[in-house]
Amino acid sequence: MAEQINEQPRVGIKAIVTGATGMIGEGVLHECLNRADVEEILVVGRKSCGVTHRKLAEIVHADFFDLLPIDNRLSGYNACFFCLGVSSVVVPNDF
Ligand SMILES: NC(=O)c1ccc[n+]([C@@H]2O[C@H](COP(=O)([O-])OP(=O)(O)OC[C@H]3O[C@@H](n4cnc5c(N)ncnc54)[C@H](OP(=O)(O)O)[C@@H]3O)[C@@H](O)[C@H]2O)c1
Repeated sequence: MAEQINEQPRVGIKAIVTGATGMIGEGVLHECLNRADVEEILVVGRKSCGVTHRKLAEIVHADFFDLLPIDNRLSGYNACFFCLGVSSVVVPNDF
């Protein structure tokens, strides 16, 4: 009985993923696509990730220093996987 009282309704994950054309982001994207508890995914990148899926929407936006043109499309999500960046493979040791 106590378990029933404490049981919370499940909230589906609606996630924004950046860097989905990269090594980390691509893996995160596919994990999200395969998970039943992830309901929606919005990929935001400066070029297309090239993936189509019923759960997936995509915004191609060149300038990540200016998100104002797309900010009204970024609401309604409850998770963000910020996977864009410079891979440590290409960063020199003295960086
Ligand atoms: N790889 C690892 O083992 C590892 C381990 C720990 C942490 N990390 C960190 O995870 C992050 C991603 O690493 P990664 O190995 O996946 O790198 P990656 O394969 O080089 O991918 C980089 C991603 O970031 C995007 N990106 C880079 N600069 C951008 C910019 N100015 N505006 C928009 N998008 C940009 C790239 O988009 P484009 O396709 O448009 O270039 C690509 O999707 C980095 O911060 C890295 O330090 C990596």
